[in-house]
Amino acid sequence: MTSGAFITFEGGEGAGKSTQIGRLADALRPARTVTVTREPGGTKRAEAIRAAVLGGLARPHGPFAEALLFSAARIDHLDRLIRPALAGGGVVLCDRFMDSTRAYQGAAGGLDPDTLAALERVVVGPTRPDLTLILDLDPAAGLARARARAGSGAPDRFEGETLAFHARLRAAFRAIAAAEPERCVLIDAAAEPDAVEAAVRAAVAARLPVLAGPLAPDKERGDAA
Ligand SMILES: Nc1ncnc2c1ncn2[C@@H]1O[C@H](COP(=O)(O)OP(=O)(O)OP(=O)(O)O)[C@@H](O)[C@H]1O
Ligand SMILES: [Mg+2]
Repeated sequence: MTSGAFITFEGGEGAGKSTQIGRLADALRPARTVTVTREPGGTKRAEAIRAAVLGGLARPHGPFAEALLFSAARIDHLDRLIRPALAGGGVVLCDRFMDSTRAYQGAAGGLDPDTLAALERVVVGPTRPDLTLILDLDPAAGLARARARAGSGAPDRFEGETLAFHARLRAAFRAIAAAEPERCVLIDAAAEPDAVEAAVRAAVAARLPVLAGPLAPDKERGDAA
């Protein structure tokens, strides 16, 4: 059986995570079993927690309560979806994961790093991503993209935060990429979608050689190099 691969996409609001996950999934699917999922959420129980937290339910209780609720969601997501998919040799592409907890509840929310690291140890354990692609974009540009997105309604719990909060998020994601270069690749997300996609493919092929074949250009899809 082929070995599974766990790839997470991180970055601020509107950076292009969902767009690029869809493109990478399309590129890999002819060759591999691909599971596309997201956090918070990904399973029925975790999606219920997502709706509550992004609706602002936990906000009055502070970032520790939010981190605990997201952890509860993450446990269910890992147990019921991510670990079984990886055990079956699948590729799991996850839209946000543990680095979003570090950035949102930690760097931007003020929760201390030791508490976050302890939570990560018990919740994520050995199921750390094989590769994390951090889409880096000026938060003003990202928020403008998110607002312009077709069908976007009222801002959620985090979209409604100040620009200063979003600037702290960006700095946090960049710091994570710098601190863990063996796991993370920082991607310039200001470029046009095709250029971002090329950078994503190059990073995946370089870091996970097992996936390089399906991402090679000049397949029947007629990709540009
Ligand atoms: N490279 C790009 N250049 C310009 N616009 C883009 C680019 N990538 C995505 N977009 C557009 O910006 C909007 C936000 O993109 P997307 O939904 O993929 O971001 P996201 O990171 O998933 O956002 P969120 O954090 O809100 O889930 C969408 O309308 C998308 O079509
Ligand atoms: Mg998205």
